[in-house]
Amino acid sequence: MPPGRRPRSALDGHEPMPALKILVIPGSLRTGSLNARLAATAAHELAQAGVDVTRISLGDFPLPIYDGDLQTKSGVPKHAINLKRMIGAHHGVLVVTPEYNSSVPPLVKNAIDWVTRVQDAHETRGQVFRERVFAIAAASESRLGGTRALAALRLILSACRATVIPNQLALSFAGDAYDDMDRLKHPADIEALQALVRQLIEVSQRMM
Ligand SMILES: Cc1cc2nc3c(=O)[nH]c(=O)nc-3n(C[C@H](O)[C@H](O)[C@H](O)COP(=O)(O)O)c2cc1C
Repeated sequence: MPPGRRPRSALDGHEPMPALKILVIPGSLRTGSLNARLAATAAHELAQAGVDVTRISLGDFPLPIYDGDLQTKSGVPKHAINLKRMIGAHHGVLVVTPEYNSSVPPLVKNAIDWVTRVQDAHETRGQVFRERVFAIAAASESRLGGTRALAALRLILSACRATVIPNQLALSFAGDAYDDMDRLKHPADIEALQALVRQLIEVSQRMM
């Protein structure tokens, strides 16, 4: 059962809504990562909106490149199981991905591939994607801002039958997108981030 979803009780209609829990996943481990920076900005925006935000590093879930033989021999690695459960403990997920050669980097794709292999008791495989709302964002030094990585990531998550919200954020010229206070400085970027956060909250709340 997704977090916050509970059996009906006589108190229904009188209990406060449980806090909306959103997981933020930066798709880069690099020191000074533009995507980790955007993930931090988005997490701050979500927290300002009253969301219970968790921001993780995929560095805390190290995984080998997916290999079917490895899975057959040793099973799904514990970090993949932990990552799947971390996703499952939230109502929605924001993935902030770099663009590598017009697509998602192996770090992001490999994490998704492994998570799709996890099957916890009383669940079907991939259920964690089907029951969750995803938002996607990217940061790049280029003018396109990682738009092609976003298209690839949307396709992957949609194929996992996740709900991927229509709004997305491609932060162009990301190295020059912040002011001295580490805040986004261009009104169009601020508006795009706020629209993304708003829609992620709305759709996640509807699915709670
Ligand atoms: C292998 C590789 C391929 C890349 N391909 C693209 C690309 O297709 N489009 C793009 O905008 N940037 C591309 N870049 C530049 C990255 O967007 C840039 O390094 C970015 O800062 C990486 O994200 P990070 O700062 O969060 O680590 C590429 C970088 C690498 C290392």
